[in-house]
Amino acid sequence: MSKWNRHFHQPSLPLGEDGRLITASKKHIELSRNAAQEGMVLLKNDDGILPLKIGTKVAIFGKASVEYVRGGGGSGEVTVSYSRSLYEGLKIKESENKICLYDKLADYYQSELKKQYEEGYEIGMTEEIDIPKDFLEEASSFTDTAIITLCRFSGEGWDRKPSLEKNDALWESELNLAKRQAKVFPDSDFKLTEKEKLMINSVKSKFKNVIITINSGGVIETAWIKNDKNINAALYMWQGGIEGGLAAADILVGDVTPSGKLVDTFADSLDDYPSTYNFHDSIDYVEYTDDIYVGYRYFNTIPNADKKIIYPFGYGLSYTEFKYEILKVNKEKDSINIDIKVTNIGSYEGKDVLMLYYCPPSGRILRPKYELCDFVKTKNLIPNESQNVTLKVEYHNMATFDDTGVISNSSWVLEKGDYKFFIGNDITDLTMIDDTYSIEEDRIIKKLSSKLAPSKLKCRMKNDGTFEDVVCSEPRVKESCIQRMNNKDSEGNAPYEREQKIHHLWGNKNTTLFDVYNNKCTLDDFMSQLTDDDLIHLLGGQSNTGVANTFGVGNMPEYGIPNVMTADGPAGLRILPDIGVYTTAWPCATQLACSFNVELAKEIGCAVAKEVKENNIGIWLAPAVNIHRTPMCGRNFEYYSEDPLVAGRIGASVVSGVQSQNIAATVKHFALNNKETNRKNSDSRVSERAAREIYLKPFEIIVNSEEPWCIMTSYNIINGVQSSENDELINGILRDEWGYKGLVMSDWWTSGEHYLEIKAGNDLKMANGYPERVKYALDLGAISHEELYKAAKNVLQLILKME
Ligand code: BGC
Repeated sequence: MSKWNRHFHQPSLPLGEDGRLITASKKHIELSRNAAQEGMVLLKNDDGILPLKIGTKVAIFGKASVEYVRGGGGSGEVTVSYSRSLYEGLKIKESENKICLYDKLADYYQSELKKQYEEGYEIGMTEEIDIPKDFLEEASSFTDTAIITLCRFSGEGWDRKPSLEKNDALWESELNLAKRQAKVFPDSDFKLTEKEKLMINSVKSKFKNVIITINSGGVIETAWIKNDKNINAALYMWQGGIEGGLAAADILVGDVTPSGKLVDTFADSLDDYPSTYNFHDSIDYVEYTDDIYVGYRYFNTIPNADKKIIYPFGYGLSYTEFKYEILKVNKEKDSINIDIKVTNIGSYEGKDVLMLYYCPPSGRILRPKYELCDFVKTKNLIPNESQNVTLKVEYHNMATFDDTGVISNSSWVLEKGDYKFFIGNDITDLTMIDDTYSIEEDRIIKKLSSKLAPSKLKCRMKNDGTFEDVVCSEPRVKESCIQRMNNKDSEGNAPYEREQKIHHLWGNKNTTLFDVYNNKCTLDDFMSQLTDDDLIHLLGGQSNTGVANTFGVGNMPEYGIPNVMTADGPAGLRILPDIGVYTTAWPCATQLACSFNVELAKEIGCAVAKEVKENNIGIWLAPAVNIHRTPMCGRNFEYYSEDPLVAGRIGASVVSGVQSQNIAATVKHFALNNKETNRKNSDSRVSERAAREIYLKPFEIIVNSEEPWCIMTSYNIINGVQSSENDELINGILRDEWGYKGLVMSDWWTSGEHYLEIKAGNDLKMANGYPERVKYALDLGAISHEELYKAAKNVLQLILKME
């Protein structure tokens, strides 16, 4: 196919076998179902009640049996031709004679839900429905086994405990969702509602065997499951994409053995997370006083915090059992490698995950007790089958960021002492390796300079749970030579249509980008003919073409530059419903991470990229790798984990799959976008150490291993400076320190001033640029031709990589 054919001409060219469409093909839907199975986490299984024995009679309760939430809202949504609920999944199992289902409630739930939708309730944010007494009686005389279903929905722009304070960046539709959420879940949707409790209690009172399924993209309370002897089993289904209900049914009947492990710590209550107490102190900022003690780094380090854990990081049951045998510990000069034999000693086939943690010495720099440093998933092992795996860590990856000069200021350092290693998965149940890595002298791994220093963070947590004062720097203020726009004026603007110069179709005198591609001239030669206006044009989003709804980049046909479209998002290619193109909804990001399967993540990246390409789009706006700092963040379903290594590794695998298809991956949101409330103007106040070790780490891992073609900066402010205008973040850390060479784009309609964004290294403003404002800044001498040239070159280099 000729270069940029899809971008110039948008032909309808299917990529599947035999000339058929690959988008939402059977193959992709099957892969989505497999991924959903692998990411579901079995929380409880007393007396091996699961899998259900052949022919078990079951009754299913809770509106979530038919109200299936396949993913979250906003740009993470996917338009599908159908999605399968648990009820529908179990009906399939019934048709295969695996179970008998009491199904009279399904129609009742459907009609009751319909009434709620007509009143304005949203899928996944409806009131639980009372079970009519006669149904309950009838069901309990049919069987003694009940499945109780629950679901949750959250989305972009609001948090799971929403603040309803109006802000300029909040869309009307988002505000309505936030209001609805606050109405149905007055105490946040982390908690069960009173109606849900009533439903659960009435089922429990009638059935001997009770199984819970939870269809949620985020963490909810689970102590009621763990501590109740009358609840026998629980499956965390997450939001499993198009076939999530069927994937859960596969697990419940034992067609598949669960192998997902938790990527977040499940604590008793929201208040147990150290990020909660000040989360809503202000809509203008969040103080990251928990510092590096996020997730298990908090719960498994701070004295007594482990008492709050209900299900720990790494936890997840299987139907089968595995045994580990350490074959060999190889201590190399730069790394330790541990060879382990994993054997399935149970009676079901299944996969296992093995994780390696290290425990740093307790020295002058206070550190978490454990940190994850490697993981591996086995293949599907049949009973008695073994597989040898290797877990490995390079010592420099155990370094900590010294931001107070204990050993060397602004440096990654390894403090002297003994580093111990542990294997297992559930972090509360690890086995120590009989070997340590000992160093006698402190080591400076990398000397850097202070960047993103806090100016308004009052204190931060130490590893005994007390707080220390933070020495703050002078606030960094980004003065603009142009009066800044507010979100009301910039929100939702479509790109301007540039006047197109007349150019002759076959006698074009311009050198074109094709000439660069064909090695007839260099990119610099080509760019020498571009005026400042041309360069500025390239630095803003372009109009939509084809099925796109998130705009494009490039668009200068007289120079042979195509208009390359972008599209969301982390759960799959998102095309607006009215267009009529249905795509594959993949399991939500958190679920994919729970699979701990990097090959699977790569396969999904590859499959999504094919759908993106088939629909003539070049830039996929995913993966999103922000850290799960708090369960309250409304977009956690789009993100992987509380742990930077998991987020980085799974994200990197997705990027590698996407880019293997010559489609651009866009790693987002760089960085510290951990709250949705007033997301465009909220200041994330954080220490340099927490920024480096926790929040920037997944991006660093991905940049180092995959060279992603694009990175999207975040909406929020970091220690007083907007991310998209943050030269220390983009030019400093991302480009100079990490050596990133790709394109950096803003998130859509940021609060940043366009010319300041370019100066900071944010090449492209999305969804639209402001050419006249940049030109004005150029005329004032506030930005230089060289700065425009550099950014435009990054845009063109990206386009040159496209097929
Ligand atoms: C989101 C991004 C998304 C973009 C385009 C923004 O609101 O934060 O994640 O890619 O919109 O839809």
